Amino acid sequence: MNIVDIIDAKRRGQTHSQEEIAFLVHGMQQGTVRDYQVAAWLMAVCLQGLNLDETTWLTEAFVRSGDQLDLSGVGGVTVDKHSTGGVGDKTTLVLAPLLAAAGVKVAKLSGRGLGFTGGTIDKLEAITGFETALPKAQFLKQVQEIGVAIGRQTGNLAPADGTMYALRDVTATVDSIPLIAASVVSKKIAAGASVIVLDIKCGRGAFMKDLTQARQLAETCQAVGQRLGKRLVTVISSMEQPLGYAVGHSVELMEVIRTLRGEGPADLTELCQALGSIALLEAGLAKTPQDAVQQLTACVESGRALATFKAMVVAQGGDPECLEDFSLLPQPARISMIPSPVTGTVQSIDALMIARAAQAVGAGRRTKEDPIDLGVGVVLHKKVGDTVQQGETLVELYSDAAHATEAMDLLRDAFCFTEGPVTPPPLILLEPTHAAP
Ligand code: URA
Repeated sequence: MNIVDIIDAKRRGQTHSQEEIAFLVHGMQQGTVRDYQVAAWLMAVCLQGLNLDETTWLTEAFVRSGDQLDLSGVGGVTVDKHSTGGVGDKTTLVLAPLLAAAGVKVAKLSGRGLGFTGGTIDKLEAITGFETALPKAQFLKQVQEIGVAIGRQTGNLAPADGTMYALRDVTATVDSIPLIAASVVSKKIAAGASVIVLDIKCGRGAFMKDLTQARQLAETCQAVGQRLGKRLVTVISSMEQPLGYAVGHSVELMEVIRTLRGEGPADLTELCQALGSIALLEAGLAKTPQDAVQQLTACVESGRALATFKAMVVAQGGDPECLEDFSLLPQPARISMIPSPVTGTVQSIDALMIARAAQAVGAGRRTKEDPIDLGVGVVLHKKVGDTVQQGETLVELYSDAAHATEAMDLLRDAFCFTEGPVTPPPLILLEPTHAAP
């Protein structure tokens, strides 16, 4: 078998055999297939696609590239939640401790930022000392004792996905339905939870730009999961405007803490309740959606959700003081305010432009080796549907540069206004679905 023939076949729109896909993934891991060859194949896949068989084989090859986590010893029902990536999407950081406080076990393996989207692991590293590379035994012990651990997808869980994920990030080959499905489903299978909830993001700030694409991704993930014996519940949620008000690392972490205290933005709170309810229902811990929401609300109001987050931070070597005193989190050198050019109502906020502004000041990676700046980012003061006076602050840019002209221009252009009232778009675009057994 020859890698050049495999790339050429996909470029011409031909279908791969299971052996060809296994050869490519194995070769990539061994270094006999080079980065540039994988990159060329990825681009061919973006243009020509993979059918369901090929997507399933790719998923299987990713899973087989490493170990599968055995969660049978952690006690209780294990739940995993995954988002396909959005702007300001800090849901995992709220939901993981919240669900653990509600009585399920959350063993969460997360990634770094990909494309224009932020990564849970990067955000957690804003906490001084927080360790995301956890040895397997420690990770499992923590899930058993505290109910939650969030670790980096290191070592041996679907490592081939990790290799390909990093290459996709820097070769404009992220937004392909089969590649995303294989990446997400392989990680979920390798991570071993029994209840899996996938949040498929849809809109300007997501890889799936419209509902048709998002449905296709949801159906592909369910079908691949079903073929490989895993039931996945998918929800499609809107990513037209950023989720919450903060986009970055420290700034998002602060919003997470506020949400765990019950003082978070309405949209983030709504999404966490929606996904959390599905997880509790699937886990058999709630009888109705109302019961699930009540349990989740009680976890926040009693302080148990925040206490669980704190316990996780301590167990993973982080400084818990950062959760009380936000000045201990990485800070920007300057905060610049952008005033509204008009009096009116915010009609739309382009989530992608907001993400690009955050990336322009150092919150995202342009190459896979790039360091990121954990103190910079964007904080919105207005969301869609809010009224604003001319000169009032629309958004703030947290940056280290004296002249962040590109980012400031992006932020100005991200907002559209109208004179009349605007109803904010619905957050949940498609209620939970799963493949028939
Ligand atoms: N999230 C993932 O885990 N993988 C992708 O490919 C995209 C989003």
